[in-house]
Amino acid sequence: MQPSDIPTKDRLIVALDLPGVEQAEAMVARLGDSVNFYKIGYQLAYAGGLPLVKKLVDDGKKVFTDLKLHDIGNTVARGVESVARLGATFLTVHAYPQTMKAAVEARAGSNMKILAVTVLTSYDDSDLHAAGYRLAVSDLVEARAQQAQILGVDGLVCSAEEAASLRKVVGHQMHLVTPGIRPAGTATGDQKRIMTPARAIAAGSDYLVVGRPVVEAADPKAVAEAILAEITPPLAA
Ligand code: C5P
Repeated sequence: MQPSDIPTKDRLIVALDLPGVEQAEAMVARLGDSVNFYKIGYQLAYAGGLPLVKKLVDDGKKVFTDLKLHDIGNTVARGVESVARLGATFLTVHAYPQTMKAAVEARAGSNMKILAVTVLTSYDDSDLHAAGYRLAVSDLVEARAQQAQILGVDGLVCSAEEAASLRKVVGHQMHLVTPGIRPAGTATGDQKRIMTPARAIAAGSDYLVVGRPVVEAADPKAVAEAILAEITPPLAA
């Protein structure tokens, strides 16, 4: 599916960053028809949440398994095959060449798409420096995006502020998936590179990943619906 063909409702991915399956299922029930796409990451996956991928898929939802794989190629490949069998739509890997190559080869024959995490959105230049990199975030993001595209990766996880420049690097074939989204007036948390939903879409993001602003809200459904309402005009523009 080309980015322009993505239904508006599928563009909001709610991160089920919750302590257990019971809380996750309660959140899915509260959000009801307002949300089509969920993300299951470390917190829920390691708390017995992986079977929920198949359950959500059987209920007609899409699931992004945000497991950020990175290991020797053979281990990555076998992990990718296992996640593909659950019916996930997206799976993340860290944007290291061996890892991306193994993941792309292993997802062949399934409908699952591989997303590469360029640089985590909680990192700024000083965090990268502390991790031993001598590159600015923007330079490392661009280098990793180019490698990902060459290796046949389907999309990138990137901050909204990187989306516009990444579009120029990778064109319109790759999906750009953006966390660090904060509707105006909501808490930033540990995210350092944030943007509002409408601005992120206008900047070229295809999918918005939103966790705490939805799942910690007094009325999660109202927040999800407000985000979808906010991104509808920029998509029509
Ligand atoms: O609660 P919040 O909206 O900050 O959640 C963002 C989600 O996106 C979290 O599940 C986080 O792990 C994920 N994520 C991120 N930055 C990345 C990749 C994924 O924040 N680069």
